[in-house]
Amino acid sequence: MHKILVMNGINLNMFGQRDPRQYGTITLAQINEKLEAEGKKLGVELEFFQSNFEGEFVEKIHAAHKNGTSGLLVNAGAWTHYSYGLMDALAILKCPVIEVHMSNVHAREDFRHFSVLSKVTVGCVAGFGEDSYLLALNALVKILNKPKA
Ligand code: DQA
Repeated sequence: MHKILVMNGINLNMFGQRDPRQYGTITLAQINEKLEAEGKKLGVELEFFQSNFEGEFVEKIHAAHKNGTSGLLVNAGAWTHYSYGLMDALAILKCPVIEVHMSNVHAREDFRHFSVLSKVTVGCVAGFGEDSYLLALNALVKILNKPKA
């Protein structure tokens, strides 16, 4: 069974309480419940991780490299836009990584238009609220289930 790690970074534990115009009122726990249900339907095992500490976040990625994680969904919050350390950590992974954002980052402030993580991710799903996570999970499972050529 594929093991997928869902990683949420800085400030994302505050979904439900921060900027509802951008992020709605859903909490991270509720998003994870929806993902868990979708994961069951898709037949994959999910692990959830959130941290506001960049070093801890990077160490979780190192652990994923060692423990046979099949793929990652990553919403790195504001780190997305400037953390080369996080980009380097994700580059170590051999498994596919998909970047996720609740809001449409391209319709917001200029600094949000650029992701330093995009260089090392398969793709990005942004702007669909909590559905961004569900769409990204479906895309990741599709990649993982693709027969090897
Ligand atoms: C976000 C977008 C980022 O620009 C922002 O810093 C966040 C949330 C999103 O999910 O839309 O914290 O990653």
